[in-house]
Amino acid sequence: LTPRRGTPEPPASSPPPGSPAAPALADAYARVRAHTEALAAPLSAEDQVIQSMPDASPTKWHRAHTTWFFEQFVLVPHAPGYRVFDERLAFLYNSYYLAAGPRHARPRRGMITRPSNAEVADYRAHVDAAMARLLADPAALTPALAEVVTIGLNHEQQHQELILTDILHAFAENPIAPAYDPAWRWRPATPADGMVSLPEGIHTIGHRGDGFSYDNEGPAHRVLVGPVGIARGLVTNRDWLAFMADGGYAEAALWLSDGFAAVQAEGWQAPGHWREIDGQWHAVTLGGSQPVEPDAPVCHVSYYEADAFARWAGRHLPSEAEWEVAAATGELADAFGVVWQWTRSAYLPYPGYRAADGALGEYNGKFMVNQMVLRGSSLATSPGHARLTYRNFFPPSARWQFTGVRLAAFSA
Ligand code: AVJ
Ligand code: FE
Repeated sequence: LTPRRGTPEPPASSPPPGSPAAPALADAYARVRAHTEALAAPLSAEDQVIQSMPDASPTKWHRAHTTWFFEQFVLVPHAPGYRVFDERLAFLYNSYYLAAGPRHARPRRGMITRPSNAEVADYRAHVDAAMARLLADPAALTPALAEVVTIGLNHEQQHQELILTDILHAFAENPIAPAYDPAWRWRPATPADGMVSLPEGIHTIGHRGDGFSYDNEGPAHRVLVGPVGIARGLVTNRDWLAFMADGGYAEAALWLSDGFAAVQAEGWQAPGHWREIDGQWHAVTLGGSQPVEPDAPVCHVSYYEADAFARWAGRHLPSEAEWEVAAATGELADAFGVVWQWTRSAYLPYPGYRAADGALGEYNGKFMVNQMVLRGSSLATSPGHARLTYRNFFPPSARWQFTGVRLAAFSA
């Protein structure tokens, strides 16, 4: 895993991991599945079983859950004669699909030592062999099948990022701060001064076109945006240290009520995974504990912290529409591939959104309350996964993802 600079914005419809052409889809399947195993490879059996908090899942669970997803939504309905690997595993590895049957409680995922890593590898191999047979038959590849396979691949890419954020959380709980990749280092944010000015105007946001997108990215619709300025660069650790030095975490007037309650309940004094060692701030990163790099983008802050920081700075967080319109100009630095950027937009359905019928309709739609939208992508997002219209979402208190801040201003 190489730390990446902010990548250029992908086109509105980045090429999906699978196109409906059978050989391309089979290739994409093999590549995505192999990438998951490559991410898990540096992790020991002990590493892969831990659940460091209810929101995080064990690596072994991610490897098995993504496999169950293909078994449940592709092979069982679409592969004639498919033999389920072990009918007991659906209970363990169904995450939240009520329509797919009963499931193990999320906070208890770390209590599962069996199946072993080797048995999960066998489960993956069993499903991969059946998927390869299915995808090798061009006659079987209907548009509906191609679509659900593509969802499965995008789903697995989401879990690839979660493998990294979840193991980093576990390692950051460990006093010896193990390194996932000892060579990993933060890099400076791309220097970018000033703002992209958006005059008042009506714009279309949301996904259009043929490439894959999640259902929550549509329907495309018109929005009124501006006048507003969107910062070209990300908020850095240097900026954040100034907020801390100014007593930002102690100044109730800067905070939303729920945010200040979280500061007090959690004892927040700095971003997630930071530790003060001999008077110097360090961060537990994928490369282990490292002195905080002032020029790197701030990371592992919650929405509450991002919002309080913006108020302290005399700024605002962008709405998701403002973010998307600004990013479409191509003038934002580090829009993608560094840290997800909190927006002030609640995660709500776009006008006219309707979740699909059936279990896969539970994928995104049922979470559209009490969460905030994040835009862009992070250094842990799998290449090719995100796009201009992509809507990530987490509760406002979450800070174990690679979450950072881009500011907006309503006056110069
Ligand atoms: C979009 C990252 C919030 O973590 O539950 C994984 C991704 N959806 N499996 C999550 C997801 C189904 C989702 N987030
Ligand atoms: Fe999932």
